[in-house]
Amino acid sequence: MIGSDIQRAASLLKTGQVVAIPTETVYGLAANALDAEAVALIFAIKKRPAFDPLIVHIHSVEQLRAFTSGQVTTDAIRLVQTFWPGPLTVVLPKAEVIPDIVTAGLPTVGIRMPAHPVVRQLLSILDFPLAAPSANPFGYISPVNAAHVADQLGEQIPYILDGGVCQVGLESTIVDCTTSPCKVLRLGGISIREIADALGYIPESLTHSISNPRAPGMLTTHYAPRKKLILTSDESVFAHYAGQPEIAFLRSCTPFTGHKIQYLLSSDPYDDRKAASRLFSLLRELDSNPLIKLIIAERVPDHGLGSAINDRLTRAASEIR
Ligand code: TXA
Ligand code: MG
Repeated sequence: MIGSDIQRAASLLKTGQVVAIPTETVYGLAANALDAEAVALIFAIKKRPAFDPLIVHIHSVEQLRAFTSGQVTTDAIRLVQTFWPGPLTVVLPKAEVIPDIVTAGLPTVGIRMPAHPVVRQLLSILDFPLAAPSANPFGYISPVNAAHVADQLGEQIPYILDGGVCQVGLESTIVDCTTSPCKVLRLGGISIREIADALGYIPESLTHSISNPRAPGMLTTHYAPRKKLILTSDESVFAHYAGQPEIAFLRSCTPFTGHKIQYLLSSDPYDDRKAASRLFSLLRELDSNPLIKLIIAERVPDHGLGSAINDRLTRAASEIR
């Protein structure tokens, strides 16, 4: 059931149940992060492999200290002061109270303070943090509104807390702060440039190591629609398919002349934030439209959130040209 009753969501979570929650990035599938049995339900509902750790959502910086061990590093402090609440996850050594199932047995934990007012209010009335992966079946596109969650997981969870459309539309940027200098594990709602400005140096980005089990969000199968998607920045590929039926073009901001089914990520001029916020909705729409058999997607300009958008498009693609 979809609803906007924060108290009801809180009561369900207090009794060890799983509830879908809105965040500014994507919807999450949440449970009490300190309750291993409740967290096990998340893995079962999502069909998520046990090696893929969950992010822990908090509402105060004191909780960051409570759920990590050792000193919060200078880099982590700089990052959270700049970007929290918001689409940033920091990875630090975990405190004992965090059950191993949350972190997939890793000695570290990913922590994030979300900005969405509904989840902030929910967290403020709970005396525990929320473990939450994106609220989609493992490997599929992340949900950015309550209906997306209901379509795929509605039968399996007692409540979907509706907070409208997610404004960022891409998952959080994950930064591993267990090393100095720190490293970016996943591109997301905060650009590398913004991270670098806060840190005072450009961090290494490990997001291309697709076999790295420490960042399973980076598996190539992630964010994939069921339909075939070809990713390209070559206009001749669009020219080749132009005019053919049952093929959709997903373009940055300008339509390709002479083709019927076209979707634009952004209005013209191109706006990376707008494109990010529309990406997952459009991919779902394309995937569920029975008139479409093949998607040809254009790589977006690589600046700002563009590199995260291209990252998701690359993972969604069955072919790159
Ligand atoms: O924006 C987001 O981050 C959303 C919302 C709901 O907060 N959550 C999200 O969760 O995208 P999920 O489970 O789809 O992706 C979390 C990813 C994992 O796949 C893993 O790559 C990384 O976070 N992660 C979590 N804990 C980690 C850790 N201790 N070390 C390294 N990576 C970790
Ligand atoms: Mg996910």
